[in-house]
Amino acid sequence: MQTVQLLQVTDPHLFADPATELYGVNTAESLRLTLAAALADGPAPDAVLVTGDIGDDMSAAAYMHFKRALAVCGAPVFCLPGNHDDPALMTQLLNRGGFQYCGSARLGPWGLVLLDTHVPGRPHGRLSGAELERLDAELRALHDVPVLVCLHHPPVPVGSAWLDGVGLLNGTEFLDLIDRHPNVRCVLAGHVHQAFDAQHGSARIIASPSTCAQFTPRTERCVMDDRPPGYRWLSLHDDGAVSTRVGWLPQLVGSPRDENESRR
Ligand SMILES: [Fe+2]
Repeated sequence: MQTVQLLQVTDPHLFADPATELYGVNTAESLRLTLAAALADGPAPDAVLVTGDIGDDMSAAAYMHFKRALAVCGAPVFCLPGNHDDPALMTQLLNRGGFQYCGSARLGPWGLVLLDTHVPGRPHGRLSGAELERLDAELRALHDVPVLVCLHHPPVPVGSAWLDGVGLLNGTEFLDLIDRHPNVRCVLAGHVHQAFDAQHGSARIIASPSTCAQFTPRTERCVMDDRPPGYRWLSLHDDGAVSTRVGWLPQLVGSPRDENESRR
């Protein structure tokens, strides 16, 4: 039996100046500590998935900090854009030398598809017609293997009104599409800075805590959570089953606080 071991880290929100804090957390230091904790808490990863909001200030320097930080993983790194990212810069900087930006890949017995839900200047997400067509074509090509689909914005409500208002605007279109492809066994997202786990048809839909600050689940408005930075391990089994767990740092990094409730 061949099992693929994946590490997901998400929403690191890095800046050109690595001393910069977001929500009271030094995001560069928090990413470094999270990666060290995750790697000490699991197998050698076959690949690392980073589901968006990699940079926060649309700077090339933030992406270069990211590349240096992820080198510790010693594994291929797959990236996609979040609402805070610059897709053009990511395409330029994060699509070579062990990094892949969007597209698709084979991971042992599984297929992987990475989607772009970025809408310039807006916090919500949307899949363009071209991206939905690409997904459909990729899933047809991967019809005989289980598939993991990754995107920044979760395609289903997570139960917090303020976050669901900036989710994937055409989530229903996405769900209708994957309903036609029962080989999609898992959908993995970021954006919500909290652990989330649901089932839609044959697909498990998962989101994960950020490597910096977390949002309290099931709230009307943004409320910071007192949970520390987190990460997720996934085991993709060759029969299409997925086992997964979230890990947390033993303590907070900095003093997470609502310094700007409009951010996410
Ligand atoms: Fe984020």
